[in-house]
Amino acid sequence: MVNEFEIKKEICDIGKRIYNRGMVAANDGNISVKLNDHEFLCTPTGVSKGFMTPEYICKVDENGQVIQANKGFKPSSEIKMHMRVYKERPDVQSVVHAHPMYATAFAIAGIPLTQPIMPEAVIALGCVPIAEYGTPSTEEIPNAVSKYLQYFDAVLLENHGALAYSDSLLNAYHKMESVEFYAQLLFLSRQLGGPKELSKAQVERLYEIRRQFGLKGKHPANVCLNAKDGKPSCHSCGGCANTEKSCAASDEDVVAAITKKVMKELGL
Ligand code: 13P
Repeated sequence: MVNEFEIKKEICDIGKRIYNRGMVAANDGNISVKLNDHEFLCTPTGVSKGFMTPEYICKVDENGQVIQANKGFKPSSEIKMHMRVYKERPDVQSVVHAHPMYATAFAIAGIPLTQPIMPEAVIALGCVPIAEYGTPSTEEIPNAVSKYLQYFDAVLLENHGALAYSDSLLNAYHKMESVEFYAQLLFLSRQLGGPKELSKAQVERLYEIRRQFGLKGKHPANVCLNAKDGKPSCHSCGGCANTEKSCAASDEDVVAAITKKVMKELGL
């Protein structure tokens, strides 16, 4: 039996962290946690996430409709985005949206985080794509994010911010922290003349480590078509985090690629 009050306190703690770390300004950002298939806790709209107390936190159903909210509080205006993640990723227990400085700068410049520059980022994140711009609070953002959900655990939101999700609130927050750290390193190394990227072989060895660890969540090491072909993937295949040619392929693409491989092995 989950203790809702403890989860509300944890949401407030994470709100403080994202605020104190400059990952959100003023009233920006939002956080949610899944209690069960029909009940979710979320931050209210229009408050600083750095100064919340448990009575601020709202409870909504799977459609984002209010189940309980104290007087003066309404669920986040981005609740549809959170609900889309839960709907399409049953493994996800928590969603964190923030506007971290460096990650958001990449989202504004339209540059996905695809350069393999350090082992931790390659293992934890793979690449971080950019979901096409959508007007906040509308279905446009959930629709834009949707196509990346099966392949990544974090996405940048074009001209807006970042979204991270995982199997716990702490892990979703850590994912956001990793995205920002990676973006900051990428930015700084670009200022220093450009990063010296890890080689394809080094990336593939890191992917192999991730597979061996059996880390949860979605990552190109597990889902990229090129990886399934036994080739280096994500960072090295050049398409994954862009929308045209993508590791974020449809199920039909996956079936077609597997069929092709089987036929090749059978000599057909
Ligand atoms: P809410 O306060 O409604 O959650 O919105 C904050 C935000 O960052 C919107 O993108």
